[in-house]
Amino acid sequence: MSTGDKRTDHPGPFLTDVETLRRHAKAHIEQGVVTDTYEGDVSRTIEILQAVLATELVCVLRYTQHSIMATGLASESVRAEFAEHARQEQEHAMAVAARINQLGGAPDFNPATLTGRSASEYQTGSDLLDMIRENLIAERIAVDHYRELIRYFGDTDPVTRVMLEKILSVEEEHASDLQDLMATHRSTAS
Ligand SMILES: [Fe+2]
Ligand SMILES: [Fe+2]
Repeated sequence: MSTGDKRTDHPGPFLTDVETLRRHAKAHIEQGVVTDTYEGDVSRTIEILQAVLATELVCVLRYTQHSIMATGLASESVRAEFAEHARQEQEHAMAVAARINQLGGAPDFNPATLTGRSASEYQTGSDLLDMIRENLIAERIAVDHYRELIRYFGDTDPVTRVMLEKILSVEEEHASDLQDLMATHRSTAS
């Protein structure tokens, strides 16, 4: 161990002394939140988050389109649900974009390449049930994707992981809402 990196004598996880913490923080200040203790691969993290951002933006567009197209009295509740989901997907997109920026990247909002970079697809539906089904598929993709990413980040980037955990809990709610809507509208359609 070098003399400049004094660590405590306690067993278990070591704690860096304040002097060393200050010295490390002052070096490379242009890297912002990415300090020596960031254990992830920053460029890989940014690349992953760009795909997540694209997925969320496609979800905003799909839900917004569906909320406009779901017309008729029977679909008022569905329309409201789609609009609420669109708003929440927008919040997710903003959180992910802010994290990309914090890590030193520029969030990619380029509409020309959006659907190619997104995990979920932009699908319109021919009727209400179709729309509900398309959104449920997209949510199930998102849930799988986020669970995998949460495992991937583990302890190497806890802030990104916690952000993804918060998003995942909302995506699970979305999937559950859509499942309920599907059951309701299946029975009224038959
Ligand atoms: Fe989302
Ligand atoms: Fe969602």
